[in-house]
Amino acid sequence: MAIAMTTERPAPVPGTRPEGARDEREAAARVREMFGAIAPRYDFLNHLLSLSLDRVWRRRTARRFTHILRRPEARAIDICCGTGDLAFALARERKRAARAAGERETAGAMPVIGSDFVEPMLERARDKARSAGHHAIFAAADALRLPFADASADLVTTAFGFRNLANYESGLREIARVLQPGGEAGILEFTEPGAGPLAAVFRFYFRRILPLIGGAISGNREAYRYLPGSVAKFPSSKELAALMERCGFSDVRVSTWNFGSVALHTARRA
Ligand SMILES: C[S@@+](CC[C@H](N)C(=O)[O-])C[C@H]1O[C@@H](n2cnc3c(N)ncnc32)[C@H](O)[C@@H]1O
Repeated sequence: MAIAMTTERPAPVPGTRPEGARDEREAAARVREMFGAIAPRYDFLNHLLSLSLDRVWRRRTARRFTHILRRPEARAIDICCGTGDLAFALARERKRAARAAGERETAGAMPVIGSDFVEPMLERARDKARSAGHHAIFAAADALRLPFADASADLVTTAFGFRNLANYESGLREIARVLQPGGEAGILEFTEPGAGPLAAVFRFYFRRILPLIGGAISGNREAYRYLPGSVAKFPSSKELAALMERCGFSDVRVSTWNFGSVALHTARRA
């Protein structure tokens, strides 16, 4: 099957719609099923398919929030946490900031909370936290109905999860609800790369090669076809920034990496 290699984007959608999903409920069910199926190979494939750059992107994201994480009482929540890698990056950054300030590790600091609605992902996150001794805890939660009180968090982050929400506006409003005024959000996500020859090479890899390797190793072709498909339909950086402003955020900033294929949106809860 030929895949058009243009940079043209279809109209943005209100939320993800995996193949065959007719509404938000079906979209969420398909997403849950897909991530449940690929959970055992998820970490391995993430690092392989990104040549371990995913670790760099998460570390850079965590470092954007050192000013929050260095406060031991600050509450940080990583939603759509999957197997926990961004939550761990936040916990490591908290430790690093404490050391730099001459404090004894993170004794007494709040653990980073990771949440996700796929239990096999959370099981892996908990195993990794136990074996590496990360100061992080994990809870099952739908990002569109978070079990956290209003204004209870200082920082909410998410990496490569937001695109999978069945309704982006509801997702942003939910993040804004749990953040206290002045609290900050960070959304790390794939976006369509920009123009130029290197971006074109990356686009070819992302749309053609990655689904083949991911599908073969995970045994789930649909999940790795869904990845480039969902990125193509995801709002552009500008559109997402505008949506964040409409949903209660100010001071929205965007950094792009990897030929424009990865974007970090940071913002403050107004
Ligand atoms: C691509 S993975 C990213 C995992 C992790 N954040 C990382 O950086 O590797 C997307 C995750 O989002 C989760 N997810 C998608 N929709 C969700 C929702 N509505 N509520 C909670 N988790 C969701 C999936 O279960 C999956 O673990």
